[in-house]
Amino acid sequence: MHELPSVNDLQSCAMYSHHNIWRDALVPERTFHYYHPDSKGLNFSALMDDVKNAPDGSFFLLHPCAHNPTGVDPTEEQWREISYLFKVKNHFPFFDMAYQGFASGDLDRDAQSIRIFVEDGNLIGCAQSFAKNMGLYGHRVGCLNVLCNDAKQAVAIKSQLQQIARAMYSSPPVHGILLVSGILSDPSMKALWVEEVKVMANRIQSLRTTLRKSLEQLSSSLNWEHITNQVGMFCFSGLTPEQVDRLQRGFHIYMTLDGRMSMAGVTTGNVSYLANAIHEATKFG
Ligand SMILES: Cc1ncc(COP(=O)(O)O)c(C=O)c1O
Repeated sequence: MHELPSVNDLQSCAMYSHHNIWRDALVPERTFHYYHPDSKGLNFSALMDDVKNAPDGSFFLLHPCAHNPTGVDPTEEQWREISYLFKVKNHFPFFDMAYQGFASGDLDRDAQSIRIFVEDGNLIGCAQSFAKNMGLYGHRVGCLNVLCNDAKQAVAIKSQLQQIARAMYSSPPVHGILLVSGILSDPSMKALWVEEVKVMANRIQSLRTTLRKSLEQLSSSLNWEHITNQVGMFCFSGLTPEQVDRLQRGFHIYMTLDGRMSMAGVTTGNVSYLANAIHEATKFG
């Protein structure tokens, strides 16, 4: 059984990618509960029920931090409970990590969920992307790690992965990888990158606060707490497809139809225009 994060019936671009990958690999998949549309937060009890009820040894795809599209992450305590249950059920957690640093601004802290699983003795897989946190979108640069029981298993898994890669892309482009490895292996450049990630995440966090305050000052009757409760690059705004359409036609503000807004595009220069537009698009339902 293969599992994917579910936002109930709402779909996003990242979700489509995941579905497409399993479809093309002819792997049957199921979804599990994650997001609660009413609280615009985590549906922890339903998630735990799904983890509990999945057949032992299921493969789960998880986002370790700054979940796309919901911006909703489990707390440290919730991760501990999830990890414990994974160990009991012998499930295999596979982490899709595209936003390390975006949740807390701290690269180490954003890896905490993965460390919890490893400390609990789970074997894990982790696909990391440097597209966002190093601004290398067009370079196809990432890193795949699979934690194995022993060297023999590692050799077998590596040769299987090489066979898949050979048929898919043969060898990866090298320029982006050289940039990333150059930064990570030079202590002063790495320290600079760590600082820059912090600045970037703090900027997004402060724009979340400004957007929420602006909406509240406009006397919007809706609850906008989730703008600051959610983390990472995305705000799962709760706007309906009709409201998204109004923003597009009336204000030239664009987001995915499920209401997912990229907070990276919000600036001190456009946040009040955005708040006014959201207020106008939502005040009559
Ligand atoms: C969760 C998640 N994983 C992976 C990706 C894709 O990363 P890459 O562009 O490195 O393939 C994205 C977004 O583009 C994403 O949101």
